[in-house]
This record gives sequence, C-alpha cells and structure tokens, in this order.
Amino acid sequence: MSGHEFLHSPGPTHIPDRVLAAMHRQPFDLVDRRLKEIAHSCFADLAGVFRTKGRIFIYAANGHGGWEAALANICAPGDAVLIPEVGHFSNNWADHARALGLDVASLEGDWRHAIDPNDIERTLRRDTGRRIKAVLAVQVDTGTGVASDVKAVREAIDAAGHPALLVADTIASLAAMPFDMDAWGVDVAIAASQKALMCPPGLAILAANDKAIRTAASVPRQHRYWDWKTRMAEENYRAFCGTMPEQLVFGLRAALDMIGEEGLPAIFARHRRLAGAVHRALEVWSEAGALSFNAALPEQRAVTVTAVRTGEGIDADLIRKHTRETLGVAVAGGLGRLSGHAFRIGHLGDLNEPMVLGCLAGLEVAFLQLGVPHAPGGVRAAIEFLAREAG
Ligand SMILES: Cc1ncc(COP(=O)(O)O)c(C=O)c1O
Repeated sequence: MSGHEFLHSPGPTHIPDRVLAAMHRQPFDLVDRRLKEIAHSCFADLAGVFRTKGRIFIYAANGHGGWEAALANICAPGDAVLIPEVGHFSNNWADHARALGLDVASLEGDWRHAIDPNDIERTLRRDTGRRIKAVLAVQVDTGTGVASDVKAVREAIDAAGHPALLVADTIASLAAMPFDMDAWGVDVAIAASQKALMCPPGLAILAANDKAIRTAASVPRQHRYWDWKTRMAEENYRAFCGTMPEQLVFGLRAALDMIGEEGLPAIFARHRRLAGAVHRALEVWSEAGALSFNAALPEQRAVTVTAVRTGEGIDADLIRKHTRETLGVAVAGGLGRLSGHAFRIGHLGDLNEPMVLGCLAGLEVAFLQLGVPHAPGGVRAAIEFLAREAG
C-alpha cells in the first residue's frame, strides 16, 4: 500500500520521528555518566507528568508488568484488594491480582459507566475489619472508552474513613488528560510507554508516594524484579534491576522533551479537541441507528479512545479488517464481551487534526463500501467542529 498508514489503535500509538531518531544510536557502556543523567532526568520529568513528589520506577515491561509491579510491592498473598469493574482492563487487572494470591473483591459494572464512588464508599464502610489494603482504579478503560474520576475515588475512601491505598491505572490517560497524583491522594500510579507518552511499547512506569513505599517496606519480598527497595538505589544497574533498556529510555527522554515543550495544559486541550471531533463524527453516524457510543454518558467519554458499538448483524471485526487492509487505517477491535460487537478508535499521543480526520474519513469510506448503515456527514461534522474549536 502506498502512502502513510494511519495507526489509530489506543496503543501502541504513532511514534514521533524525534523519538524514533533519539533511539537510533549505539548504547552507552553501563557506567557511563551520561546514562545515569538521562535516567535521572527522566525520573524527574516523569514526576512532573504524574504531578507527584513521590518516586518514579521504570521497568522493562508492558502495562501488565506495571500492574504486577504495583501489587507485588504493596501486597502480600492473602491481602484483599477492591477493584471496581469498568471494563476489560479492570477485569484483567483483577485476574492478575488473583494470580498473585490476592483476595480480590470486584464491584460489578456494566462496562458503559464510570466507577461509582458511592459504591466504593459503601463497600469500604462495610469492611469494618479494614482488610481491604488497596482500591485499584482504572482512569480510562481502553476496552470501553469510559473515563472515571480518580479524585472522587479518593474522596470516597476518605469519606468511609478507610485506610486503603489508592492505586490508579493511568496507562491510557497519563499525558493526555488531567492526573494530579499528590493533590488527588493517589498512592501508586501506573503508566506504560506506548500510549500518550508516544514511545514504543516496552516500559512500565510507576510513581509511588511515601505511604506506598512505607507499605512496601512492610511486605515480605517475593518478587525481586519488581522490588522498589533495590530500585531506589542511585546506580542505574540497580535502579533498573539489571541492564537499563537504553534505547527505550533515550526515546522516552525525547518524548518528555516534547511533552515539556508543548506543555500539559496544551496537550490536554489538544486531546479534548481531537476527541471532540471523533465524538461529533460518531454522533452524526449514529443517527442511522447502527453505530453507537459504548460510553453511555457524554461526560464519561474518554479523550483518548472511543469504543464504537456496532448493531445487530454488523461485523465489527470486518470493519476493522477492511479499514486496515484496504485503506491503511488501523483501528482496534472490541475486547472481552465487546469482541465482534465494537471497534475502537484511538485518539491519543502524537496526533493532530488531519491525522484524526484521515482516520474518520477512512472509516466513512469503509462504511460505504461495506454497507454499514450510518447517517452521512460524520466527517464533515468533525471538520466543522475542528474549524470552530481551533478558531
Ligand atoms: C488501561 C489499560 N491498562 C492496562 C493495559 C495493559 O497494557 P499492556 O498491553 O502494555 O500490557 C492497557 C493496554 O491497552 C490499558 O489500556
């Protein structure tokens, strides 16, 4: 296929040329002073992105590894955790927790609505023995396109007078929408490199505050690779528990430079604008009754990913295959119970208006070619929205 391919999965995302170029170099020898400087400057800048004075840990791992790193540090087998169900990823995280031997209580959700803080408060009030050690909250469940209010989760924990730690999965939200770790009372936050951080997959990034680090100190260590104690060392070889994934960190350095130059407020505004264009297009398409938002409430629609439900008799996977194979536009498929019944448009990271319009136009072509019922004018509505917002 000639021309650019449009990558609109909600991770991995488009990698800026500047990040690719930064990785295109020979590694340093492991004790080269420059290597330590790069790593430590990344720790400092990541703390700014999470908005925390806590510690940053970088693992050669993906988001699943990040989940495990958080739990392995703050929990021992038998400890109880509470996970509000918001979609495929909250459920997967629960499975990981169970595999680590944790006692997992899940708060059932319908995959179309955000975390209900009242549910959290009620459940924690009932936990009179204070067994629940942590509440695990996913800020944006990429499987459903639903965004939850993490600050409200902390308020619910406090309202119940419960000592539980708050652990936030910001994998599909950090550096795309507001997250204010210290101000919101989040104890551990988890991110991954391949989303709005604009890097290749391969780095899990954790932020942990003093309370979390004190908790970890009291947990018998069983997972050496994840262990924060070793990783708090000054030397790189210990901070990374072995050889630092150098090229990935060089890329991260460049991405953090770009984030610093654009500034978080402008980045958040850009994500809101681009998400608004996608949402406008779907609002129009959905008038024909076949396509619809998975996120039931407009205010809970994520600025990073939109899950589009497809009606009876419409094969979501065929739409995805067709757009990728014939038009060069890669969107993601439905996950878990949405498998075959939804496709997902990623709109996070290194994206601009024409890229998003390219994706939407590709989809509209596919709808026409495949006979997917949709009201015409979705792309036009997105263009008009962007023209208004930019002006
Ligand atoms: C919200 C969320 N959490 C966790 C993960 C898992 O990350 P990974 O696929 O890097 O293991 C993802 C991946 O898409 C995600 O979107």
